[in-house]
Amino acid sequence: MSHRQSLAACHALLSLVLCCTQAAAAPPTSAAVAMPRDPPAQDTYRGRKIAQTMHYQGAPWLIRESREREEQCATLLATLKVKGGDTVCDLGCGNGFYSLKLARRVGDQGVILAVDIQQEMLGLLRARAESENIHNIRPILASVVDPGLPSGQIDLVLLVDVYHEFSHPAAMLQAIHCSLKPTGRVALVEFRQEDPQVPIKPLHKMSKAQIMKEFPPAGFKLVGQFDGLPWQHVMLFARADSPLTEVQASPWPTEISP
Ligand SMILES: C[S@@+](CC[C@H](N)C(=O)[O-])C[C@H]1O[C@@H](n2cnc3c(N)ncnc32)[C@H](O)[C@@H]1O
Repeated sequence: MSHRQSLAACHALLSLVLCCTQAAAAPPTSAAVAMPRDPPAQDTYRGRKIAQTMHYQGAPWLIRESREREEQCATLLATLKVKGGDTVCDLGCGNGFYSLKLARRVGDQGVILAVDIQQEMLGLLRARAESENIHNIRPILASVVDPGLPSGQIDLVLLVDVYHEFSHPAAMLQAIHCSLKPTGRVALVEFRQEDPQVPIKPLHKMSKAQIMKEFPPAGFKLVGQFDGLPWQHVMLFARADSPLTEVQASPWPTEISP
């Protein structure tokens, strides 16, 4: 090996070591979630400020005892009309609060693709599924621009309290669009921006108007909505070429009656 060749080999080895050291030493913050090759995160999207990713150390909040009463999760699940045998993606699944419930609904013939960008969240989900003897959940470690879903196979993509955290919303919307069957739907569940009584920080809320600024331009049409949850909007979208019938977004009253 010539001197020049051995120098080049040394350089390559050094870059590899540095790259690995940096990745291993990164603190477990939201910034550490992005892979080194991901494009830089956006600050805003279509006029909305993007929120930080919820850290896995906050996971106990997702399975707090009061969640059912505060968010009426059983009502949300009933609204989604998931059937036995469905392929459902719980995108931004966290520690699996909804994945486990959905797994029981789709049964042995169905599957839940539980996607998250934090390995630790998927570890928590695996442990919970195991302790409840649930075997039809497939955890997927995603990147911030690619949820790693199969094309054209999903009946429902559930996005609970996560879309406002996507650091690359356009790429994620495109990937979700690709993953849907023609009759597939996306259920977007976000805390209501219009309602000051919802006790959540403004950055982690969305208005219906803002949602409609983001989904239709990405090739989706609104096919349903549910205004009956205490804190959250539920808006159902399908691909613009879907046979499902389009509906108009109903306005949310900006003033809450006493
Ligand atoms: C506030 S938690 C909600 C968890 C769950 N949906 C629930 O309601 O219990 C948001 C989760 O979305 C994940 N997340 C954020 N951006 C993501 C992305 N681009 N793809 C997949 N998961 C993402 C975070 O890691 C976090 O676990």
